Amino acid sequence: MIIFASLIIVILFIAIIIFSFPQFSPIPYFPSNGKDIPMIIEGLNLTNNQTIVDLGAGDGVVILKAAIEAKEKKLNTQFIALELNPILILILHLRRFLHPNRKNIKINWGDMFKIDYQRLTFDVPRLTFYLYISPWFIEKVVQKIRKEVPSARFVSYYYPIKSLKHKEKKVTGVHSLYSYKIS
Ligand SMILES: C[S@@+](CC[C@H](N)C(=O)[O-])C[C@H]1O[C@@H](n2cnc3c(N)ncnc32)[C@H](O)[C@@H]1O
Repeated sequence: MIIFASLIIVILFIAIIIFSFPQFSPIPYFPSNGKDIPMIIEGLNLTNNQTIVDLGAGDGVVILKAAIEAKEKKLNTQFIALELNPILILILHLRRFLHPNRKNIKINWGDMFKIDYQRLTFDVPRLTFYLYISPWFIEKVVQKIRKEVPSARFVSYYYPIKSLKHKEKKVTGVHSLYSYKIS
């Protein structure tokens, strides 16, 4: 009993450290609002021969629901969940293991500011990046992606991408969703 309680305390302690320190997660974990998920999935505009990348996928609330929708619509859409927080990576792997569309879902443990997007998305047509990240990090990551994958499309929840304002389409639920088509 004491061993079990100690184990729980150690796990909780590690979780608090990982969720509190910016080195582990410079962008805090806030899941997209559950009421907005249908609006977000519609904004992703799922099609065949397309890949959706969730940048900082959290517990997978968006990308795993989108993968269910793709399966129901018999689409071959691919999904990549990129996440830095090791606890959330573990949760993503567990949820993927139980997911009906797991063959089309990849979990990638990596840093969105350092990852090589050309390599991550090699030979993948029609790329859409889903972002729900703090406004002071959006431009940095969008500029990096646009340099490495110029044709990428972006869908941003809550925060607009100011540098793409001229290509913006906005819809609003509990919060707003901004879509940007680059061609
Ligand atoms: C606001 S949450 C969004 C979660 C999810 N996309 C959603 O919509 O529910 C931001 C996520 O980004 C992750 N994150 C923070 N910094 C990151 C980085 N440098 N690389 C990858 N993921 C990161 C956090 O751990 C967190 O899960």
